Amino acid sequence: MNKQLIDISIAVQKADALTCTADIAAVGVFEDGFERPDIKSLDKRLGGRIRTLQKLGDFDGKAASVCLLYADSKLAAKRLLLVGLGKRTAVTANTLRKAATAAAGKAVDINAASLVMCLHSDIPATAKLNPVQAGQAIAEGACFGAFRYDEYITAPAKKRPARLKAVIADADPSMVKLLKQGAAVGAVTGSAQNFARTIANRPANVITPETLAMEAKKLAQRTPRLRCTVLNEKQLRAKKMGGILAVGQGSANPPRLIVLEYAPTGASSHTPTVALVGKAITFDSGGISLKPGEGMQDMKFDKSGGIAVLGAMQAIGALAPKVRVFGIIPAAENMPSGLSYRPGDIITTFSGKTVEIHSTDAEGRMILCDAITYAAETLGCSTIVDIATLTGACVVALGQKRAGLLGNDDALIERLKAASAVTGERIWHLPCDDEYLETMKSKIADFKNTGGKWAGACTAAAFLSQFVGKAKWAHIDMAGVGVWGADETLAPGSIGFGVRLLTAFAVDSAR
Ligand code: BES
Ligand code: MN
Ligand code: ZN
Repeated sequence: MNKQLIDISIAVQKADALTCTADIAAVGVFEDGFERPDIKSLDKRLGGRIRTLQKLGDFDGKAASVCLLYADSKLAAKRLLLVGLGKRTAVTANTLRKAATAAAGKAVDINAASLVMCLHSDIPATAKLNPVQAGQAIAEGACFGAFRYDEYITAPAKKRPARLKAVIADADPSMVKLLKQGAAVGAVTGSAQNFARTIANRPANVITPETLAMEAKKLAQRTPRLRCTVLNEKQLRAKKMGGILAVGQGSANPPRLIVLEYAPTGASSHTPTVALVGKAITFDSGGISLKPGEGMQDMKFDKSGGIAVLGAMQAIGALAPKVRVFGIIPAAENMPSGLSYRPGDIITTFSGKTVEIHSTDAEGRMILCDAITYAAETLGCSTIVDIATLTGACVVALGQKRAGLLGNDDALIERLKAASAVTGERIWHLPCDDEYLETMKSKIADFKNTGGKWAGACTAAAFLSQFVGKAKWAHIDMAGVGVWGADETLAPGSIGFGVRLLTAFAVDSAR
């Protein structure tokens, strides 16, 4: 590897925007907050410059807009960054997360190594947001915005800091205490998300099922209470995991089943247990049902579900909730070769159920069905959430900003929706009842692996539902949301979708 990614530290200090020394002081301004006391006194100190910017229309406080000012000797910080927060009454954790993302992104862009953030100070008492949540959101946002994936760039076009020291400032000691509590969690989830982004961005010649398994093992080694076991090809064969084996058999990089287990201290048979299952196709060429060439390079991101689970396990290990969590990552490379599985093949899956292959490009469900059976039958998990870049149909249905959410249990769906509302990773409930299964029936096997033209996200989930046994199960189709949408500019590539969502869900499962 050429160099280290940015090392981001987050602290909370009793300080204010005027007196804090830093490369940048970032101050949040509501669209309708230019007249608020904090901003007024800052404006006064700056001789009315903020007012001028507003009058000229150069800075209006719209959410996540930024304006960089040079404060000369009027502030202790070298630069002042105004960060828009939108309408004051509409503020949520997401507003602060995005504001911190913008501030940290700007800091890295201009090669600034220290950032003081005063983004939360003017939150109205009526907002559905307490200081702990604010601290978490700001810490997460700062981690997110400061991330750059440049480990393979040998001659950078511009300098960026090797580390970013981010400080959340508040003048009130009792607030500092609460913000600290939240920021400690946010630093954990934020760095887990960046870990996921790093691994997801790595190309398929670097991350193979084997090297992904090595990353999982390294994670378990550095995390107390986390264990990792990996089934290699031979062991998969011994267990008759026909789905994973079929998808992996065409590649020179053989498949793996990665199983991470987090057990809280003092865990007993009464400890609640959840399974997180993530699809990790390290490259999806489509196999013999080869994909068109255009955009195929992005199929290195077809491991993003598995990596969301990997990242979540890092965060869960650090947060240590009172719940047992299995992180199960079936990993394979879907390649065309003389050894590949073919359309027409009938595969006996780990469950014993048979599947007639109609497209080798519908490979995600073939590895997930084995991993889900492993969670339900072998490990006896009664709650299973899987996450996968599963269908183009989900992208057609929901676009690049929302993942699909499907499942067999209303309460579980509601819990995931609640987690999503907190973390800001948006999901939308779609149906997958038995009606959708009809198109998945084969005349010569139990199922086909494709369901025809319509409702592809729903038929794929209906297929998966057949492998969950008695478990409460939900499925997140993140095909559209794993990488930045076209309109985004910061750090292209993986956004680490799902890490915070799965972590919040697991932590909530402890209650
Ligand atoms: N990995 C793809 C789904 C995908 C598409 C992810 C676009 C990200 C962006 C998946 O393995 C796939 O190829 N699905 C097929 C299923 C079809 C053959 C039933 C699809 O969606 O076309
Ligand atoms: Mn595919
Ligand atoms: Zn795929």
